[in-house]
Amino acid sequence: MQPQAKQKTHIELYPLLSSITSTTDLISKILVDHHKKVTFVAATIGEALGLDEHSLRRLILAAAVHDIGGLTIGTRLASFEFEVVNPEHHTLPGYALMAGFEPFRDLARIIRFHHVYWQNGQGLLDNGEEVPLLSHIIHLSDRIVVRLDPNREILSQMTDIVERITTGAGDMFVPEQVEAFREVTATEAFWLDLISPSVSTIVQERFPLAGMELDRSELLALVEIFRRVIDFRSRFTATHSSGVAAVAVALADYSGFQPDDPDKIKIAGLLHDIGKLVVPAEILEKHHGLNHDDFAVIYKHPYFSAEILRDIDGFEDIGHWGALHHERLDGSGYPYRKMAADIPQGARIIAVADTFTALMEDRPYRCGVSAADTARIMWNMAAYQKLDEDLVTLICDKLEDINGRRYQAQSGADQTHRQFLEDCRLLGNYMTTDDSCPVRR
Ligand SMILES: [Fe+2]
Ligand SMILES: [Fe+2]
Ligand SMILES: [Fe+2]
Repeated sequence: MQPQAKQKTHIELYPLLSSITSTTDLISKILVDHHKKVTFVAATIGEALGLDEHSLRRLILAAAVHDIGGLTIGTRLASFEFEVVNPEHHTLPGYALMAGFEPFRDLARIIRFHHVYWQNGQGLLDNGEEVPLLSHIIHLSDRIVVRLDPNREILSQMTDIVERITTGAGDMFVPEQVEAFREVTATEAFWLDLISPSVSTIVQERFPLAGMELDRSELLALVEIFRRVIDFRSRFTATHSSGVAAVAVALADYSGFQPDDPDKIKIAGLLHDIGKLVVPAEILEKHHGLNHDDFAVIYKHPYFSAEILRDIDGFEDIGHWGALHHERLDGSGYPYRKMAADIPQGARIIAVADTFTALMEDRPYRCGVSAADTARIMWNMAAYQKLDEDLVTLICDKLEDINGRRYQAQSGADQTHRQFLEDCRLLGNYMTTDDSCPVRR
């Protein structure tokens, strides 16, 4: 009997979004916990302003992902200047990424305008587009957080920060919002909460948000947004996870692998590299090969795939397979050094699909390999106990069909990526469609 898909999946949105952006914040020590801190400040100011429950929810979720479009360390660090140059380099990709999922469209608008100055009321509009007041709260909260000096005692910085922010009332910030900020920062506890390692728990306890119930197509649409966040950070990986998912589904079909939910293997393929958010785009784009330190960063990514996916209801297997996609049957993989007996079939499928797809893709330092050569290389890997021999045999026996399914999926993803670049260009960003990468047949 065919396994049945679940009717609804329950998603706790704030912890999930926060765990994704916390991982992106690990690309530099300066950025650590940035999204969590901004969310805490924004929610506290929003509450002091008397926002209704719905607006507070929108504010918290938008703050939790406000810099998600900052795809490189360079762009992220630039946003830490008090007066940011070219904020659209991260606000517009963030908007274009998030607007692809209907329930996030409203959040996308808030993100898009989160660096607009108030300019004594002119900041109600930006190039004729209405700027949500929630964007201004995030702008204010963000600027407060970038003023924090990690090398000074927090309580000796309170006065300086409040004074600096207050001088921006009217020009940079909405005066009523600055007033609310001054009110909430009057206690030492506010500042101690802000730098607490538990700041995310504090947000969740003080501002509990209801989760979301997603049906199958909504869940897949949400997964596709996360897939783009993972893959679009580099043109070299822009279609990668779509290819892995298609090959994994083909291998599951051919090998008769049937998890309790048939979408699990596809979702695992789409999200296996979500931990790559810990790897800055600068490393993904390196042209002259990777050095020891680059590999030290890259080797972390499957661990973070598990970290991000672990708390999603029903994603236990998906997170487990994602975490193990670089394990090898002889124990030479990373980061857990598992042996064959501890690597389940779902993880073996993702590992084979990942290797097949990655070998055929161009990388900055090498060209992609043909399908026939890829199959040969993988055959060798199976012979040396790296990859599952039965699955690699399927790759070789069904090469034309499996490769065709991969090509079709990656071509579709390539169109989506070109559209993303075009959207960013139309919105005024610096990226162009020349930044895309051809999909190999
Ligand atoms: Fe920003
Ligand atoms: Fe990976
Ligand atoms: Fe991968």
